[in-house]
Amino acid sequence: MSARILGIESSCDETAAAVVADGREILSSVVASQVDIHRKYGGVVPELASREHLRQIVPVVREALAQAGLKLEEVDAIGVTQGPGLVGALLVGITYGKTLAQSLGKPLVPVNHLEGHVHAVFLEAHKAGRSPKLPAVCLIVSGGHTVLYEVKVEDSGAADRNALFRYRKLGQTRDDAAGEAYDKVAKLLALGYPGGPILDRLAAAAYGLPAPVKFSPTKTRGNPLDFSFSGLKTAVLYHLREHSEYSEEIRKREEALARGERKFDQLLPLSSKTTLGLVREFQNAVIRDLVDRTMAAAEELDVESILVSGGVAANSQLRATFEERVKSAGVEAFFPSRALSTDNAAMIAAAAYPRLRAGLLADLTLNADPSLALA
Ligand code: KG4
Ligand code: ZN
Repeated sequence: MSARILGIESSCDETAAAVVADGREILSSVVASQVDIHRKYGGVVPELASREHLRQIVPVVREALAQAGLKLEEVDAIGVTQGPGLVGALLVGITYGKTLAQSLGKPLVPVNHLEGHVHAVFLEAHKAGRSPKLPAVCLIVSGGHTVLYEVKVEDSGAADRNALFRYRKLGQTRDDAAGEAYDKVAKLLALGYPGGPILDRLAAAAYGLPAPVKFSPTKTRGNPLDFSFSGLKTAVLYHLREHSEYSEEIRKREEALARGERKFDQLLPLSSKTTLGLVREFQNAVIRDLVDRTMAAAEELDVESILVSGGVAANSQLRATFEERVKSAGVEAFFPSRALSTDNAAMIAAAAYPRLRAGLLADLTLNADPSLALA
């Protein structure tokens, strides 16, 4: 069965629509980010997110269809994020998806946002003519999630586009998500919002600089595959409080941000070597934790593939560290491109395809599920 699926994603602060053919060929992918709206609050404000989704959803879907060269009637099904996410934000996409499906008489496929992130890896692998072997270990690491799954298929082990994946949760964060830690530390240091991309670049500029403090690996009692990032964020906070030399440059950066100067080239000259060393050490600690636990899971399960997805998967040092570690472990690592790492609707349309084939459809009673679990 050939199918062109219109995917709709509105779980957090990106309004996105995309058309994907047969679960793997991206015909279009449009993302309207709300980052400029939430920036002054230093995080996503749910009410503002819902309002902005309402404003964006129609033009974003139109644009996705136009870029795919399709009319609405030519789409074979609608895939929409059901959860997890912000309830008001999810409802905008779901209501619009239901309306389209009903008025066009097309099937409506509910999708778990996290399963979308898993499919982002397969979309990218497909473009490169690669195919991750299953079972695999998948790390989903974003502003809202840090979780490790085992991903498998029912029968053959072949991860073809028709296969429905099965998931087993191996570990998860007990407190903050890794992306949230990036955002909070960037806020403490007055380095703008969202923190991940800027800290990524500053940490690269800090290569080889001494660390003003050393963060030890996080220990979690119980499940050794669980994560924890709030202690690290607190350690950064205490370090800043105890060392007055940071306050003057933090004040200068706050002024720069207030003037709208938030680019890397603008913030780098306002950041001392000590700050750069601190950023690098923070990033080293986050990455060591993510990579160590993911590699431990891969070894424990004896898998050949590691999948990494979510906003933080865009991090250059995380990618390089994984590439290095998998080589010596004899496994393969798969990442989406940066654009497919962060929230998008192509991954939702891709995840909808095997569900459409399996007849896992929704009717008009479909509701948002803010804490929808994958496993
Ligand atoms: O997947 P995503 O777009 O949205 C959520 O579902 O949260 O991820 C956004 C998160 C933010 O916390 C952002 O700071 C982080 O991903 N992020 C990064 C990088 N790019 C985005 N973190 C580290 N390095 C990056 N290059
Ligand atoms: Zn996400």
